[in-house]
Parts: sequence; C-alpha cells; structure tokens
Amino acid sequence: MGSEKVIDEKNQGQALLTTKIEGNNKKLYIESYGCSMNLNDSEIVASILSEQGYNTTHLLEEADLVLVNTCSIREKAEQTIRKRLEKYNAVKKINPTMKVGVLGCMAERLKAKFLEEEKIVDLVVGPDAYRDLPNLLAEVSEGRDAVNVILSKEETYGDVSPVRLNSNGVSAFVSITRGCDNMCTFCVVPFTRGRERSREPKSILEEIKQLVDNNYKEITLLGQNVDSYLWYGGGLKKDFKNASEIAQATAVDFAQLLDLAATEFPKTRFRFSTSNPQDMSLDVIYTMAKHENICKYIHLPVQSGSTAVLKRMNRQHTREEYIELVDNIKRILPGCSISQDIITGFCGETEEEHQETLSLIEYVKYDFGFMFAYSERPGTPAAKKMPDDVPLEVKKRRLNEIIQLQQKYSLYNTERFLGKTVEVLIEGSSKKSDKHWKGRNSENVTVVFPKGDEKVGDFVNVFVENCTSATLLGKKI
Ligand code: SAH
Ligand code: F3S
Repeated sequence: MGSEKVIDEKNQGQALLTTKIEGNNKKLYIESYGCSMNLNDSEIVASILSEQGYNTTHLLEEADLVLVNTCSIREKAEQTIRKRLEKYNAVKKINPTMKVGVLGCMAERLKAKFLEEEKIVDLVVGPDAYRDLPNLLAEVSEGRDAVNVILSKEETYGDVSPVRLNSNGVSAFVSITRGCDNMCTFCVVPFTRGRERSREPKSILEEIKQLVDNNYKEITLLGQNVDSYLWYGGGLKKDFKNASEIAQATAVDFAQLLDLAATEFPKTRFRFSTSNPQDMSLDVIYTMAKHENICKYIHLPVQSGSTAVLKRMNRQHTREEYIELVDNIKRILPGCSISQDIITGFCGETEEEHQETLSLIEYVKYDFGFMFAYSERPGTPAAKKMPDDVPLEVKKRRLNEIIQLQQKYSLYNTERFLGKTVEVLIEGSSKKSDKHWKGRNSENVTVVFPKGDEKVGDFVNVFVENCTSATLLGKKI
C-alpha cells in the first residue's frame, strides 16, 4: 500500500485501497484529504463507481480514473492538493488516457474555474453531486470536461452502502448529517457543503447493522455538527417548525439516535464527531452516562477562550456558557475526556484575548487538541468584513504557546491512567513495533502493549505502566 503525505493535521489525508468486484475491469485510484467526512464520502464514491465497472487500485500509474477528494479548510490544505495535481500531471504523460477528477470542498469552492486553472482536471464534482458521477464520466469519455457542483437540500446518500476503504476491519464511520447551518465567520464549510440535512434513523441503523454483521466493533457517527441532528421526515432543520404535528411528535434528535444505536448494538462501541458547544444538550450527556458502550470522549471545539472573539467568529456561545457545559460534562461523566479545536490570531485578536484562550485551556485541562493559525478563506464573512490583521509571526507565537500548554495538559491527562486498567479495542500493530498491538481506550487515548495470542478486533484489559503525552504503555491482564 502506498503512503502519501498527511495534509490535514487532524486526519488521515489519504485513502488508498483496493476493492475487487468480479467482472469490473476499470481501475479507480482515489485519494482523500481533510476530515473524516471526506474519507467516508470517498467510500460512497467507490461504491457508486463499483457499479460502473470500477475496482480501486493503489497504483496511480495503472489508473483509468484518478479522483482526489479535497479539503479547503485552510490555505495550506489547498496548496497540498495543487502539488498532488502536479504529480498526476507527470503520471498522465506516461498514461495519457488517464482521467483526473477533483471532488469535495475545493471542487465546490472553485467550480469550473478549476478547469481553467489546472489543465489536467477533466472532472469537477461537489460533495452533493456524487450520484451524478456516472453521467459526468460519460461526458468525459466523449472528450468533454464535466462539472457538477450543485448543492442539495436533500442529498444524504442514505441508501448508498459505502465500500470500506483502507479499513482496519474494526472501526468505521457512518455519516448522520451533512452540511452546516452555523456560519462561523472564519469557516468555508457552509459554502462548500451546503445546508444541514439529517439522514433517516432507519438507514443509519441499517448501515450500522451491516457493519456489525461484518465484525466491525466501533462506529463513529459523523457530521459537521452531530448534536444538531434532527430527523422529522426529511428536509432542512430550519423548516422543522413548519412540519406537521405528527412529524414534530415523532422527530428523533441526536440523544435519541445515540440511545437507539447504543441499545440496539450493545456490544458495539460508539463515538461521534463533531460536537458544536451551542448544540450539545444535557440529554446527550445523560445518554452517554446511561450506556457503557458510548465512549467517554467528546470533541468540543472552542476556537477561542474570549467571548469577544467568539462573537466576532459568530460562535453562538460565550466563554461562560462553554465553561458551564464543560462543568456539566465533568459532573455527569466523571473522567470523560474532552478535546478542543482552537484558532490563534483570528481577526483583531489582542494579547489579552489570547491570554483568555490560555486560561480556558488551564481551566478545562483538555486531553488533547487540534490547534491552527487563522487562515483567511475567500468568500467567508470574515474575509469579506474583517481584516486579517494579526501578523503571521504573532499568530505563530501564540499558536506555539497554546500548543505548549496543551502538551502539558495532555501529559497530565495520560498520567491519570497510570496504575489503572483500561479496556482497549485492538486496531492493529503498533506503528513502531510489529511485536506490539495498538488500540484505544474509551477516552480515545492510544494504548500500546506487547502482543500475545489476541487478534485485531478483540477487546482486552490493559494495565497501564507508563505513558507519554499521547500514548499509554502497558501489559494485558
Ligand atoms: N464542525 C466541523 C468543523 C470543521 S473545521 C467539524 O466537524 O469538525 C475543523 C476545524 O478547523 C475548526 O474547528 C477550526 O478550528 C479549524 N478551522 C476552520 N476554519 C479555519 C480557518 N479559516 N483557519 C484556521 N482554522 C480553521
Ligand atoms: Fe464550520 Fe462552524 Fe460549521 S466551524 S463546519 S461553520 S460549526
């Protein structure tokens, strides 16, 4: 299996894999950058194209079709994609019939402009248009460029059964919502992924059942904002208030969906991502407390510890409200780990506001975090209305201070497991040593321990003897 560079600090960066469906003779090479949702979307695309005669390959050189699922979240992510296109260009010189398509957020953001800017690209397809791929490919095969970047109010790909790419056969993603209605001023996602839509609970539970039947042990429910999940028969969340009384009375929210899944599949571990603080209800926290099989881990992006900055970011909560939520989590779910996303150097951020972010980290004592310097994204409300006025050196210095402090609390948090026994789901061999297993505990900390006669997919109890700020080391008991 090839190994490509990870571009988004938070995620895998690529999905190379092979699928073999009898009778399929065309070869698809698909690469995925950015968030877990992109990875899951690539699985949906592989599924749609498997019905068009494509098997996936991990050899770029032999591909008939190359698809790159792109990320626009920061400028650097887009630059990395441009570099990949250069690489495809070199390969196309050897394999001139190869077609190249761009999927995902960059496709949506740049639309047909992509075709002008990057001559190698034959196909531009936005996140809601993957069902149109067979038609678009037919256009391309007749020598025309093809573009579909229409965003939908309905599309959830609910009935597409994703082909599990690059899977360890143990953990899988299941998308439950698409899009985002929040309009944080720095964020390109509402523009690239459209309005928020929730998927029907029945199709979510069916997909989970298929995974469980195929021996998957851990499912992560995915959405830009999972806590905002609401099924009342379809449509946008904002239209809920106009829905019929029956639809309103029988609606399913995120806490109920979690409860349904955890009850129906008691031996399966559940995780979810991402939780927007303003939408996380006490019901969700109580549901987590009720079920042993819902992992005690919440990714709770805060972006800044300053209420004034949060306001400029159009986040719908204050520092105090966020702290109240964290206090509730700690009270109802003692020991639950919490992680953050933080942006440093957002428009107008003063030294005092930066200090407030540091003091919030000290208060919450996050288990880990994903920290970024603000990167202005064209077309966002911040880019239109607020100057990107914090100098790069200042952004970087603040970012460093935040990373240093987080590092301290990450170690503080892993140390709390020393001398304790944790339940680990084995995901595979440790990257550093073939003689060790690697897995995670409920709190999402990586645990490494010497191999015995266990196998991938087993749950084992590990006594923690040592730790770094990111990993627990121990032995099976
Ligand atoms: N709700 C989404 C957020 C996606 S973006 C989710 O599912 O995680 C992930 C993180 O990238 C955000 O929480 C934010 O911290 C960061 N981010 C988004 N836009 C950014 C920008 N313009 N510059 C720097 N970081 C950004
Ligand atoms: Fe982006 Fe804010 Fe939605 S960070 S994905 S607009 S919750």
